[in-house]
Amino acid sequence: MSLSHAYLSKMGKKPKKRSKSSDRWLRRQRRDVFTKQAANQGRLSRAHFKLQQLDERFGLLKPRMKVLELGAAPGGWTNYIEQRVTDGLLIACDPRPIAAAAQTVIIGGAYGETETDNEISEHLAGRELDLVLSDMAPNMTGIRAADQARSMDLVELATDAAGRWLKPGGSLVVKIFQGAGVDAWVADTRKQFAQVRMVKPKASRAESREVYAVAQEFLVVD
Ligand SMILES: C[S@@+](CC[C@H](N)C(=O)[O-])C[C@H]1O[C@@H](n2cnc3c(N)ncnc32)[C@H](O)[C@@H]1O
Repeated sequence: MSLSHAYLSKMGKKPKKRSKSSDRWLRRQRRDVFTKQAANQGRLSRAHFKLQQLDERFGLLKPRMKVLELGAAPGGWTNYIEQRVTDGLLIACDPRPIAAAAQTVIIGGAYGETETDNEISEHLAGRELDLVLSDMAPNMTGIRAADQARSMDLVELATDAAGRWLKPGGSLVVKIFQGAGVDAWVADTRKQFAQVRMVKPKASRAESREVYAVAQEFLVVD
């Protein structure tokens, strides 16, 4: 049995440098921790922990908030939001089925399609959202440039939703795949929000290009 790095350090011994394969093993272990934790706690998926970690760091969710969640299926984030936002409004949108509590407004369509956008509008009187969350992801084709362009289209859709319905001071959290278009998006978004930070939650797979942009204090630039 090998001794842990922490134990060797405590004993004043220098731990051996880890090989690439043991790094891969450690990363897989960490991933398994969240997968197991999700199963043990009866969560729909490990995605729950990504939002929990972002919420714990940025204080995103509070009682009585009004929240729009884009890309909600199967419902891991939805379930977390429902527990945190008591006495508020949650509108969850996805063309796929979402497991949600009775009080959540489910919009079963793709955001960006006129019918879906109109349905969301019917539930909102104007700039009244505190938070727009997007975990939207396209079906990946394996063609990197095409996948990146499609994922940036979804980021733009979420940003448009924020521009349309966020109240001043509101926040936008959006999944982004690192690659072409991200720098320009960050530069643009910094004109609309006082703070924009790119974050990789621990529960996000290390080998994935996925990060989350957390944009806070919406400035309302019409
Ligand atoms: C990674 S999953 C979301 C997981 C979810 N956050 C959870 O915790 O269960 C990405 C979702 O984005 C959805 N999606 C992709 N394009 C969309 C669009 N235009 N409007 C709404 N949802 C979309 C997909 O259908 C898919 O269910």
